[in-house]
Amino acid sequence: MGWEYSEKTKQLFLDAVHGKPGTHLGEIENPDGVGEHGSIACGDALRFTFRVERDENDPLKDVIVEARYLTFGCTSAIAASEALCCIIEDRKVTPIEALKITNADIVEFLEGLPKQKIHCSVMGAEALQAAVYDWAKRRNVDLAHLGIETHTEEEDEGRMVCKCFGMTEPYIKRKIRELNLRTIPEITGAIKAGGACMSCHHAPGGLQDLLDEVWGSKKAEDKTDKPSESFVPLITVPAGGVPAAPNKKPSQTSELSPYQRAKKIEQAIESYIRPMLQRDGGNIEIVDIKDNVVYVELMGACAHCTGASQTLKGLVENTLKAKVDSSVRVVQV
Ligand code: FES
Repeated sequence: MGWEYSEKTKQLFLDAVHGKPGTHLGEIENPDGVGEHGSIACGDALRFTFRVERDENDPLKDVIVEARYLTFGCTSAIAASEALCCIIEDRKVTPIEALKITNADIVEFLEGLPKQKIHCSVMGAEALQAAVYDWAKRRNVDLAHLGIETHTEEEDEGRMVCKCFGMTEPYIKRKIRELNLRTIPEITGAIKAGGACMSCHHAPGGLQDLLDEVWGSKKAEDKTDKPSESFVPLITVPAGGVPAAPNKKPSQTSELSPYQRAKKIEQAIESYIRPMLQRDGGNIEIVDIKDNVVYVELMGACAHCTGASQTLKGLVENTLKAKVDSSVRVVQV
């Protein structure tokens, strides 16, 4: 499936990958600020560096004159990083002023982004923020003294809510507030949490509960916007973050004949797994099923993705465990 990118996004991407003069792919040597966000295991990562023209008397008057990025990600990750650098260089801002640049500015510069790709703009804004914190440390600028709220990795530590993307309760709640996220699809679009096996959506303490805590409970509405029974993931994620056995009666699956089990596996792949992989340009084929082991081939974008093993465990295996049988294992061939 192709994404509906704006002409601006496509152009920025093409210019960047062709190394057109004036583009920003790369890294600044001896930078004044370095910030990173994302992880390669999750499919997107960004390293952002900038250089300032120093004011010898007052670091607050430093001006960012050059910005560069290295990114591992798709078209929109590259275009969003390129947009971030353009915005910063065009505006000639101080690092403190740069903190006002948000992911919405990046989306506007790109003339829109598919909502499932908003996380690329969020990644840019977070890497910029981290780079400014780094600059402040190097230049002995006390951000707290300036009334600027900073976030440390320690503050984001806590109960694991979305195991597939390694996201904790404090981090997800912070992003829900900062980005005004109101629904699970909005969370997934902005930070990817909930975008793989989906077991964190409606589990106790999961994404819906966090939305309710931040914005106030709306249990009555939940009943209507929860997926239908056939779509509710049956795996629950406890505080420790390890998915528990599916919340399903063993008799439901232990009575399945090999034929029925194979049919169920096929159905789960067709109905839930394939559409999600296709959203990201990937696909999957069943090669064989022997007892509880499903041999599959990942195709398209998934075939060469370094996050393939995570996709296999987080999305394919967990979904099959939830939909078919907790003993199902998935092996890539
Ligand atoms: S635990 Fe959140 S998507 Fe799998």
